[in-house]
Amino acid sequence: MAEVLASGSAVRFDPMLRKRIAAGQTPAIAANRLQHHYGAGELRKQVLFDNSLEIYPGEIIIMTGPSGSGKTTLLTLIGTLRRVQEGELNVLDRPLHAATQREILDLRRHIGFIFQAHNLFDSLTALQNVRMALELVDPRGSRAEHNRRAKEMLEALGLGNRVHHKPKQLSGGQKQRVAIARGLVHQPRLVLADEPTAALDEASGRTVVELLRRMAKEKQVTIVIVTHDNRILDVADRIVNLVDGRIRSDVLVQEAAIVSQMLSKCELFKHLTPRSLAEMADHLQCETYAAGETVIREGEPGDKFYLIRQGRVSVRRGPEQREVAVLGEGDFFGEIALLEDKPRNASVVTLEPTVLYSLSKPQFQKAMAEQASFETEIRTSLFDRH
Ligand SMILES: Nc1ncnc2c1ncn2[C@@H]1O[C@H](COP(=O)(O)OP(=O)(O)O)[C@@H](O)[C@H]1O
Ligand SMILES: [Mg+2]
Repeated sequence: MAEVLASGSAVRFDPMLRKRIAAGQTPAIAANRLQHHYGAGELRKQVLFDNSLEIYPGEIIIMTGPSGSGKTTLLTLIGTLRRVQEGELNVLDRPLHAATQREILDLRRHIGFIFQAHNLFDSLTALQNVRMALELVDPRGSRAEHNRRAKEMLEALGLGNRVHHKPKQLSGGQKQRVAIARGLVHQPRLVLADEPTAALDEASGRTVVELLRRMAKEKQVTIVIVTHDNRILDVADRIVNLVDGRIRSDVLVQEAAIVSQMLSKCELFKHLTPRSLAEMADHLQCETYAAGETVIREGEPGDKFYLIRQGRVSVRRGPEQREVAVLGEGDFFGEIALLEDKPRNASVVTLEPTVLYSLSKPQFQKAMAEQASFETEIRTSLFDRH
């Protein structure tokens, strides 16, 4: 997956597809035209511009971007540590732009913060530092129960033998893990982390990431991580890139990986370099169809190539439009008219709700030109297929 990102292959986050995938879910975080500035008068400086974003329960978002681009500001707005000035921001079903102080305090109990400055209490042990987070959200809970949960969380982070140490007896990485334990011990529904792994060695970083991944997948916890740590990019479902206060790209990593893999399995593209495949993936458009819709019609000119992402289609031919094939996920169609500059030689009708990725004729031909020397071979393989 890292390779996919490095080569710049990424299907742009597509809200329509996303809605299908997340059908029925309301976002855990929904920002609408969110803006933010610091200072006033001459000193007024706007740092977030018109940002809209939806993050769903169970998603892990990695936020990247140059220093000063507004990442921490956005994170602290989501975490209710700053007041929303302009635009709307809904977090765990509460409108922060219109919330009372009481609602905000209540919401904070469901949020876990892991921030760079770990702010541990020097006079307290690791266990006591972690336990404090539980006492805050659950003041009536039993001490024994709090101890048990705090200890369990420290163990999960590899600090089972450090529970009674005070911060100054711990290394930087160990302190950071205590801070992480404190941010997660109360089982928040939303975790906001600012460079959580920066101070950690590779193995500890992995432990932390694995813990976050399990929380997201098993308990539908929503996780937003600001990081420059390339080693943990693979945990992300989506990568949001913030530049100069604006979301530049929002990439559904999983989807990008799936589509690149589908393309690389197409016989038609077997001679394309990973780079050309990546470029092609970048130009795909997502189209959704209900059952029974005609995608292409026999006899009409061909203008697109299609890859089936989800669903099934029927290929029909001749005066009676007899079904000659049924295609499903990972199959493709529409290439012949583009390769041979002929009208469509069949119609394609959806058999169920279907999601297709399409590539325009010019993009398709560009990709084909790049493997022109293999054209003969490709025609042969097409001949075999149809
Ligand atoms: N409390 C503040 N008062 C004034 N300016 C701030 C404050 N916090 C951040 N800024 C400015 O806002 C911009 C965005 O900062 P920040 O959100 O911390 O970016 P990042 O986390 O991406 O480095 C920067 O220019 C920074 O100097
Ligand atoms: Mg920052």
